[in-house]
Formats: sequence, C-alpha cells, structure tokens
Amino acid sequence: MTITNDGATILKQIQVLHPAAKMLVELSKAQDIEAGDGTTTVVVIAGSLLAAASNLLKKGIHPTTISESFHRAAEKAVEILTEMAVPIDLNDRETLIKSASTSLNSKVVSQYSSLLAPLSVDAVLRIIDPKSPNSVDLRDVKIIKKLGGTIEDTELIDGMVFSQKSSGNGGPTKVEKARIGLIQFCLSPPKTDMDNQVVVSDYTQMDRVLREERAYILNLVKQIKKAGCNVLLIQKSILRDALNDLAQHFLTKMKIMVVKDIEREDIEFICKSINCKPIASIDHFQPEMLASAELVEEVATGTSKVVKITGAANPGRTLTVLIRGSNKLVLEEADRSIHDALCVIRCLVKEKALIAGGGAPEIEVSHRMMEYAHSLTGMEGYCFSAFAEALEVIPSTLAENAGLNPISVVTELRNRHAHGEKTAGINVRKGAITNILEENVVQPLLVSTSAIKLAAECVTSIMKIDDIVITG
Ligand SMILES: Nc1ncnc2c1ncn2[C@@H]1O[C@H](COP(=O)(O)OP(=O)(O)OP(=O)(O)O)[C@@H](O)[C@H]1O
Ligand SMILES: [Mg+2]
Repeated sequence: MTITNDGATILKQIQVLHPAAKMLVELSKAQDIEAGDGTTTVVVIAGSLLAAASNLLKKGIHPTTISESFHRAAEKAVEILTEMAVPIDLNDRETLIKSASTSLNSKVVSQYSSLLAPLSVDAVLRIIDPKSPNSVDLRDVKIIKKLGGTIEDTELIDGMVFSQKSSGNGGPTKVEKARIGLIQFCLSPPKTDMDNQVVVSDYTQMDRVLREERAYILNLVKQIKKAGCNVLLIQKSILRDALNDLAQHFLTKMKIMVVKDIEREDIEFICKSINCKPIASIDHFQPEMLASAELVEEVATGTSKVVKITGAANPGRTLTVLIRGSNKLVLEEADRSIHDALCVIRCLVKEKALIAGGGAPEIEVSHRMMEYAHSLTGMEGYCFSAFAEALEVIPSTLAENAGLNPISVVTELRNRHAHGEKTAGINVRKGAITNILEENVVQPLLVSTSAIKLAAECVTSIMKIDDIVITG
C-alpha cells in the first residue's frame, strides 16, 4: 500500500491499458523529470485540453489544424507566463522557503512544512557548484530513511550517513580524527576459480589449514592498520563473505571501526563526499588512498543505529537528509514530498523566476489568450479560445477542492483579472479570492511553463493517432 498525494506516484500505481491513458501516465513522469512538481497539474490540464480538442473535432475542425493551433497556443501561454514572472535572487532565502512550502502545502506531511521547507532550501543552496551556478544535481543530496521518531526529527547532515550500524561487537563506535579506507576486496579466505574439493583427512592437516587461514587474514588486517586506517568501509560482495568472523575479530582487536555491506552504487557518492578512492586490492592499501574526517560516530536513532561521518577534509558539496518517521508509509511519503520541495528549488536555480500560485497564473493566461484570440482569424482563433478556456480547469479544480463553487469562483476570477488584478487567486485557507502573492503562495515559473508545454505536446500527439492496434 502507498499513501501519497503525489500525482506521478498515483498514476504509476494505476495499471492502465488504454494507450491514451498510458500517454498521460508518461506525461506525468515527464513532468516529474523536467520540473519535479506539478505532476498532477500537467495531467489535469492535458485532460481538459483533450476535452476541448474533442469538442473542436465534433465541430468539424481538422485534427491537424487543432494540433497546430494548440502547439502555438502553448507557446503563447509560455510567453505570457514568462512576462508575468518576477525574478528571484537565490540569496532571498525567505522567498525560496515560501515556494518550497507551496509545494509541500498539498502533501500528506504538510503540517511539517515549517521544518521541511527550510531544510530543502538549505540542501539545494549548499550543493550549488559555483562553477555551474545554473544547475544542481540532486543526486548530491542523499536521502536516508530510518524508521522511528517522527518527521520532526528529520535532519540535514553536512556529511555522510550509513543506515547500518558499525559491525562487530566491542569495536570502537566513535573515532575522532578518522582515517577512512574504502575497500572493494574481501577480508576472507580466497576461493579458487573453479569448483573443487579438498579432502582433509587427519587432524594435523586440518590444523594447518586453519593456521594458514589465520595468517592470511591477519596479514591483511595488519597491512590495513599499518596504513594508518582506523575506519574501514567494506563494499558488499556477492561472491563470498566480504568480511568473515576472523577478520572482524582482528579488526576489533586493532580498534578499527568497520562499516560493512556498502552497496556498489553508493561508492561514487562516498568518494565524492569524503574525498577518498576505492581500494581494489590490499597492495593498493596505502596511506594516500585514505580520507580524513573529524568524526565518525555511531549514533542511536529510535530503535536502530546509524553511522555518521562529519567534518570530512574535502567535502565534494554533498549532503545527507536523514528522514525519520513513525511508520513506513509516512516515511515514503515524506521522501517523495522532500523530493518535490528539492525539485522546486532546483527549478528556481535553473530558471530564477517565480509566479503566483492558487490558479492566478492560469486565469491570467486564459484571459490574455482570449483577448489575443480575437485578433486571430479563421479556425486558429477558435482553437485559441478553446485552449484558453481549457486552462480554467486549474482554478476550477482548486475551488472544488477548497469546497467552493467552481463556477462562481471562476467567474469572479475572470472578472478580477479583466480589471487588472493579475495576482487574484484562490485562497484555499480563507476560502475566498484574494491577492495570492500576499498569501505567500508562490511557485517556480518552470513548473507552470513545463506543465503547459508538456500537456499540449501530449494532446497534439494523441490527436495524431489514426487508429489503435492492440498488440501483445
Ligand atoms: N495555499 C494554497 N492556496 C492556494 N493554492 C495553492 C496553495 N498551495 C498550493 N496551491 C496550488 O495547488 C496546486 C498544486 O497542487 P498539488 O501540489 O497537489 O499538485 P501538483 O503540484 O500539480 O502535483 P504534485 O505535487 O503531485 O506533483 C498549484 O496550482 C498551487 O498553486
Ligand atoms: Mg505540488
């Protein structure tokens, strides 16, 4: 089961068969990749545009005319939205927090937005690389989910967190001035390449095998100690034990802290975060391959423990968000909501412009496009009007969800926008129409422009389908 209010997630769970429905699911995914937020909006707009297109078809307008006009109308809409947008400075933390809050407003975890919004803003701002100030890679923010506690305990950590505890009993759990080694080889007896059997028949032979094994492992561990390593990270191995009991025993004795079962895909992030190099064989286990950090510590979080690395010598601008929650469903939804908020800030880094929310931009675009449609002749003007009217679905849906009468709300909004109130929108909290900018409901321009562009693109491609052949 999943509890979510994220459009893309809901659609992903639905199993659809109809090709047009599949395209809508894909549309939502595309918006998720492009902007990260507005995945519900994009599908709602596409649905409304499809209805408009179907009406136009019934009136006998040729599909090609409709799809060409819709394409141009979407361009016009983007142009109007861009004109309306206000530029934003990335140093303006307050405004950034407001936009992150808008995206969190509609989520299941919305009551925590006062914590999650600033957290998301700080996370994105800190990973911006001065060399490429117009883009951020959200892979630099690692999300770790841990059951226990509440979402309020969620924290942003300037460093790394391993969701597993340190291995071994009685070994160190706190290492200051750590020298960290990341190994990709195994600390266990080697295996032969081929499957073979050794039959040990008497006691002395058995003893020799054990002694050999002990000497082999001890030698490995000694070399690790000699390089000055006091924290050892071990990559998971699928071939054999990455760390056997004997090796663990020696490591514990030599006071080396061990974190095992590190996934292959995390290696790159670890290297970037603490500035170390993965070590593929014991011969390469040299002091220069190790990373330094102020502190590596095992800390208790609720029912389990995690290992934190902080104060690494050369952090590659990565961060970790440790999400806490009382159950798995809440935890998953918190993760998705933080993803949306991070994406909103990423949008603002990409395109530094904001617009009001609450249906204000859609009504304004609709109003101005209607006016523009009057200046067009022929079928195109007709299609532009239909497109403009279709955009009213957003304020109408918002009104419905706020328990208001959609028709009267949309009529009033039209009226106010016609009188120049460009930011009049639906105030969900007060259940009335107000200047939405004063309510601090703002969203990135990119989310809205991308939603309109992608929705129009999806509708025009559906229009081009002549027939459907079901295969497989
Ligand atoms: N406090 C608010 N008052 C009025 N409108 C709001 C408020 N908060 C958000 N909105 C509006 O709600 C809409 C977003 O709703 P929602 O977040 O549920 O969907 P989405 O962003 O399209 O999809 P998803 O978040 O699932 O990817 C936007 O049009 C936004 O302007
Ligand atoms: Mg949203």
